[in-house]
Amino acid sequence: MKKLFSAEKMSTHCHWVGVIDWRLRNFHGYLTGRGSTYNAYLVKGEGGYVLIDTVKAGFEDEFMSRIETVCDPREIRVVVSNHAEMDHTGALPQLLNRFSPDCRILASRNGAKAIQAHFSLDREIEVIKSGQTAEILGKEFVFLETPMIHWPDSMLTYFVEDKILFSNDAFGMHLASVERWYDEFDSALAYEEALRYYANIITPYSQIVAKFLDKFDSLALDIDAIAPDHGLCWRGEGVEFILGHYKRWASVEKRRSRKVAVVFDTMWESTELMARHIAQGVRSEGVACVVLPVQESHRTQIATELLETGAVALGSPTLNAGLLPTVADALCYVQGLKFTPKFGLAFGSYGWGEVSVKLLNESLGAMGAECLPSVSCQYVPTDAVLLQCREAGARLAAKIKEEIAL
Ligand code: FEO
Repeated sequence: MKKLFSAEKMSTHCHWVGVIDWRLRNFHGYLTGRGSTYNAYLVKGEGGYVLIDTVKAGFEDEFMSRIETVCDPREIRVVVSNHAEMDHTGALPQLLNRFSPDCRILASRNGAKAIQAHFSLDREIEVIKSGQTAEILGKEFVFLETPMIHWPDSMLTYFVEDKILFSNDAFGMHLASVERWYDEFDSALAYEEALRYYANIITPYSQIVAKFLDKFDSLALDIDAIAPDHGLCWRGEGVEFILGHYKRWASVEKRRSRKVAVVFDTMWESTELMARHIAQGVRSEGVACVVLPVQESHRTQIATELLETGAVALGSPTLNAGLLPTVADALCYVQGLKFTPKFGLAFGSYGWGEVSVKLLNESLGAMGAECLPSVSCQYVPTDAVLLQCREAGARLAAKIKEEIAL
């Protein structure tokens, strides 16, 4: 095979041998507007190499050509699988016969089960013990299971000698780039993508993340770099940067800000007009407000905005005794991600059956929001209704100022 792609040296004993998916735009419903990478890492041991994770099926040639710039693939004697999801294991079955004939595969207990459930490999997968130091090819590794961050099988691998934490999905981002390190890239864009990744993948597991980070701190691992399986790696000040943000995002109280999201769709602009006046009311109290018309705002963006907002105003007209399907879609997605706005406000117009605000209030209540009195109107909002909207927006903003610290 032609060596079209090169590995990149990350530390004394470690090379990045991942692949770049410039074209990815949809990760099961998550709009990945800047593509992604599937990172994998080769660690040089004594008498062979340890491969940390593999890549998505379809990228085998790029992956193998990067590996071949470091070693003969038959020198790969151990594969550590931190996570069974197919963006990190899909290429494994096709490539195993290219590695050492006695190549071992290590995974967590749940990982071993999940890999076999996916691929029915013709060899045993060795189950590693979490929290213990293991010597592999003369190098020390510590494996840390992180169940439900974000699958039952997920784990992290710490390579002691080079002080690298291979963190799989945790601390990652969907971002295709030729750069490998956060400090080589536009820091604002990298932050935006890390935030988007947390909001759209990790949010439902935030309580588990918070507990894990406490435990992780108590381990006091000496970390020079965090190397996730998507996007950029973190080193130097970047390590504290991403750990600090994860600690904040994992805590509902810490991540909530004095900001309102107004999320709505409209049929004949009545609900849109209400949304605009609610936003004006929020503004009148000096509180930040983001307005998200759902036809023009992908659910990925809505989820990202909701991560840090303290309140949400949710609007839909009534259609067929229900919500507009676009609003129902966005709600289904953000409810699945278990967002918990502190305050909610339902609003919307109707023709002959006033249904939407009732359903929106139920959804906001199910998300744990304290619902303020809703605003609805028949057909087209009058000036009096628009005044009600401005007042409702101002009340929502005032609540936020009372309850959420600056
Ligand atoms: Fe990147 Fe959960 O897979």
